[in-house]
Amino acid sequence: MNETLQLIKERISANKFDTERKLSEAEIKELVSYATEAPSAYNIQHWRFVAVTDPAAKERLKALAYNQQKVADAAVTFIVLGDLRGYEKLPDILRPLVESGLMTQKAADGWSQTATNAYVGNEAFARDEAIRGASLGAMTLMLAAQAKGLASGPMIGFDVEGVKRAFNISDRYVPVMLLPVGYPAPGNWPRKPRLSVDEVLSFNEGREF
Ligand SMILES: Cc1cc2nc3c(=O)[nH]c(=O)nc-3n(C[C@H](O)[C@H](O)[C@H](O)COP(=O)(O)O)c2cc1C
Repeated sequence: MNETLQLIKERISANKFDTERKLSEAEIKELVSYATEAPSAYNIQHWRFVAVTDPAAKERLKALAYNQQKVADAAVTFIVLGDLRGYEKLPDILRPLVESGLMTQKAADGWSQTATNAYVGNEAFARDEAIRGASLGAMTLMLAAQAKGLASGPMIGFDVEGVKRAFNISDRYVPVMLLPVGYPAPGNWPRKPRLSVDEVLSFNEGREF
């Protein structure tokens, strides 16, 4: 099977991580560099990552995650955030396209304005988009980790407000998930069963799945 498809089939949410094997800052940065290749609405790139590697900080984070041990055991636990005002960076994001001649300044301004109009005053949509964008970034990071021989374990079981307070995260950002990443240890679950394709797919119109 193609290597990428194999990775998709092999990824599991890990609970057991090798506590001896660390990741360097360069390795963590490389993982995030792959995450930033994910798609996002208007290319806003809502994802932000707080990489928690310090043992004491990981213990604090674990306590806020109902003592789920993997938070402390993984080499790094990312706090994946979504930027609720990511559209504010669009002029900067689009500038290289203008400078390289791929986009006119007028088109870039229009793009930024359209995005701003979509989100300003529409808090629910901005929040949905931040979560959607950051989730795609997190999924891409999980696949990159898998490709590097690492394991990952997405988690929503944590005290969102407590994490914001303890890790100096402002209201501009919505915590989307915790993502422990590290070398796996023995004892992880095997792949879990999935609904069949026929149970989740319809063609051309919706149905009661
Ligand atoms: C958004 C999200 C939140 C999750 N939260 C937790 C969690 O708090 N604790 C946990 O042990 N697993 C958590 N999981 C892992 C799921 O239980 C797991 O993805 C699911 O059972 C499918 O298993 P697999 O990822 O090994 O294929 C979460 C997964 C996702 C995508």
